[in-house]
Amino acid sequence: SIVSPLLRTGYHFQPPRNWINGTAAPMYYKGWYHLFYQYNPKGAVWGNIVWAHSVSHDLINWFALEPAIYPSIPSDKYGCWSGSATLLADGTPAITYTGISRPDINYQEQNIAFPKNKSDPLLREWVKPAELNPIASPEPGINATQFRDPTTAWLADGHWRMLVGGVRDTRGLAFVYRSKDFKKWTRAKHPLHSALTGMWECPDFFPVAGSGEENGLDTSEHGEKYVLKASLDLTRYDYYTVGRYHKEKDRYVPDNPAGDYHRLRYDYGNFYASKTFYDPAKRRRVLTGWANESDSVPDDKAKGWAGIHAIPRKIWLDPSGKQLLQWPVEEVEKLRGKSVSVSGKVVKPGQHFEVTGLATSYQADVEVSFEMSSLDKAEPFDPAYDNDAQKLCGVKGADVKGGVGPFGLWVLASGDLREKTAVFFRVFKDGYGKPKVLMCTDPTKSSLSPDLYKPTFAGFVDTDISSGKISLRSLIDRSVVESFGAGGKTCILSRVYPSIAIGKGAHLYVFNNGEADVKVSRLTAWEMKKPLMNGA
Ligand code: FRU
Repeated sequence: SIVSPLLRTGYHFQPPRNWINGTAAPMYYKGWYHLFYQYNPKGAVWGNIVWAHSVSHDLINWFALEPAIYPSIPSDKYGCWSGSATLLADGTPAITYTGISRPDINYQEQNIAFPKNKSDPLLREWVKPAELNPIASPEPGINATQFRDPTTAWLADGHWRMLVGGVRDTRGLAFVYRSKDFKKWTRAKHPLHSALTGMWECPDFFPVAGSGEENGLDTSEHGEKYVLKASLDLTRYDYYTVGRYHKEKDRYVPDNPAGDYHRLRYDYGNFYASKTFYDPAKRRRVLTGWANESDSVPDDKAKGWAGIHAIPRKIWLDPSGKQLLQWPVEEVEKLRGKSVSVSGKVVKPGQHFEVTGLATSYQADVEVSFEMSSLDKAEPFDPAYDNDAQKLCGVKGADVKGGVGPFGLWVLASGDLREKTAVFFRVFKDGYGKPKVLMCTDPTKSSLSPDLYKPTFAGFVDTDISSGKISLRSLIDRSVVESFGAGGKTCILSRVYPSIAIGKGAHLYVFNNGEADVKVSRLTAWEMKKPLMNGA
């Protein structure tokens, strides 16, 4: 397919070139946000992994520094894989990460590094004390090829704890390691939690403030509720549960026992290997995550780059206490330039209209509130889809007419509508007449280029739509569409590669393919400026 430079993202995080994957050790230190990430300095495919390092004052404008952690000791000789940062009681940051010590089987051990110079706010150089490393090696009975990604540690009853992801048979789990001094670590007999899901990569575990409270908690603070996230190697999605942490036993119990299999996801699209951190400057918890390409490997090589990061998201517990809410950090709004608005416009069944007046519909932020006067026409919810949103949306895509919806946005659309990515809602009625809302991103018409992977992504939105109101926000960025339904209840990030809806060829529309009228109570679309992006 084509590899147009116009598809390179404008305000999503990426280095000037080469392969990137998961974020690691995000932290705030002496006025700077630090972000590390898995990086191949030699090409646009995975390999030769080191920790690249960027710093920012606002999580949006980024300065690239030299790689911070790279192979240099026996226990990380063949790769420095993912890990996390912890701020010790005296304010010293420590990084724990996975090193590969044997290339043949990717033998995994956990290591620790400290800043060479704590007074350098940029934390440019890291040392790996020889007397401490590795801090954890796979003991007999632990699968040494599936033992990685230490979390931020937390302090409970005078002892540090941290998790390491792993698997036993097909049971994914989070090993618990304990330490008195942050130097010598001992594995607890029982994992924090486990489930029959296959390998857990990049576990994350943190307390949340009360239901609906937007402030975050530091990782060592006590929370009534906790979140445990695992990146499932098998499906390549980030799943989480909300539950309670019993610190005497170091056990976590999800509130919903079926939650381990019911699969709440941070994002129902392309979003993986994420990490959160507590931001003391704005007293919030921030989520950083990776989105890979869904283009072909030859195209990645031709472009010379692969992988981006999502816009950092503030996350907090929903008023229901059952799930998280996520919203792009407010700093992204600094990139907003010229805007256009539409108010009180009714979109009749089968109709659409263009949102005109933006010079950069390919790089925009769109917020829209929809209103339906009645949900009577909602289609019955067919249990045959096993409650599987993705399956449902795969069958009932944006072009399949419905009752209430599909309605939403066509983004990165060509003027002749041969290319368009649909981000939309569709309302069903369950057996009790209760509305059930589906949110989808349908990229099946996103490009005329052949050989692209164009998966339809979808999640249900657990929102009370009885008022007939629902909102949508989409961050559009050339080859990214990152959407937030109902104020951040359901999020979907998609990668698309239009061939004609690029640059000035990209348009923005509102569509309604249902039988019921839908009113756009208010829509505002902003042109988005380019931030400083690692010197690219
Ligand atoms: C996540 C992951 C981690 C590992 C790293 C290797 O995609 O596989 O488990 O540490 O990436 O680059």
